[in-house]
Amino acid sequence: MAWVPGGLEYGDGSGGHPQAGDLATILHLPSGSVDAAPVPGTAAPDRIAMTTASSPPASSTPGSSASGSFGFADTAAAVADVEGWMTPGQARRLWDRASAVAPGGRIVEIGSFRGRSTIVLARASEAGVDLVAIEPHAGNDRGPREIEGFAEEAAGDHEVFNGNLTAAGVRDRVRHVRAFSGSEEAHDAVPGDIDLLYVDGAHRYRPARADLRDWGQRVRGGGVMLVHDSFSSVGVTLALVRTTFLGRGWRYVGRSESMTEYRREPVAGKDRLTHVGRQVAELPWFARNLLIKGLIVARQRRLTRLLGHDPDVWPY
Ligand SMILES: C[S@@+](CC[C@H](N)C(=O)[O-])C[C@H]1O[C@@H](n2cnc3c(N)ncnc32)[C@H](O)[C@@H]1O
Repeated sequence: MAWVPGGLEYGDGSGGHPQAGDLATILHLPSGSVDAAPVPGTAAPDRIAMTTASSPPASSTPGSSASGSFGFADTAAAVADVEGWMTPGQARRLWDRASAVAPGGRIVEIGSFRGRSTIVLARASEAGVDLVAIEPHAGNDRGPREIEGFAEEAAGDHEVFNGNLTAAGVRDRVRHVRAFSGSEEAHDAVPGDIDLLYVDGAHRYRPARADLRDWGQRVRGGGVMLVHDSFSSVGVTLALVRTTFLGRGWRYVGRSESMTEYRREPVAGKDRLTHVGRQVAELPWFARNLLIKGLIVARQRRLTRLLGHDPDVWPY
């Protein structure tokens, strides 16, 4: 599969969002509709040796080392060659949170692509957990800088998704809803509350905000929401600012690279200051990610390296 490093954010499949490659687009200004020149050599880091963890695991949860008949190490190996964007630290956080969902509970993933994160969720969760993957495979938001125009590739993604789940032994564990997350069809396919919500679908501000707001409000009290590309994608970060930042019903727990974790619970008084302060403290990291994206687009490989970042890897 050929990754085309074109656009800087993800869309929602509603059309009219060409790839762009200038600073305005990195900042995700509404006028950012300039065609981007592909950046040679900037590939999605789609194959990660999951067995060589590069970041510390999320806080451990009782029973998180293995769930059902699978272990984390086996699962890390099983997804090592599945294309997608999920670091070992992020896989560990997904695993820990998914394995903590009790039978009878529900996990919803928005944005599955070829199944890299889906497989981790499926192998971590107990058999009695309803696991729903909402993924249209429509050709938009395939990955970093692939906003739209990838319908043909998306048909392939659908096949590969099914094949990857089958190979990982979890095709029967996952209820795939092939629809956009904002559709009635997607909402109707998920009855009742959600225990764990993983948001990694469209990355522009409006659809990302809709996911956080409309799906977030379906997470039960005490439930968890994980959000990929937080403090990395402008659209997702702005959406977080609008929905979770001030602590109206969400507590910021922490992050594994760009995967943030929020717990659904009331946050008041001094607690709220801490909650806001902890997210504000992530803003320098956000600024660094934007700078790195700008340098990659400007093909400033040496400067990118000087910042301690591999110029062939889009930040996530
Ligand atoms: C970054 S990829 C997801 C990567 C995946 N979580 C993994 O670990 O490999 C984003 C995915 O979101 C999907 N997507 C785009 N718009 C969507 C929407 N409105 N609802 C659900 N999924 C969407 C795209 O088809 C794409 O496969």
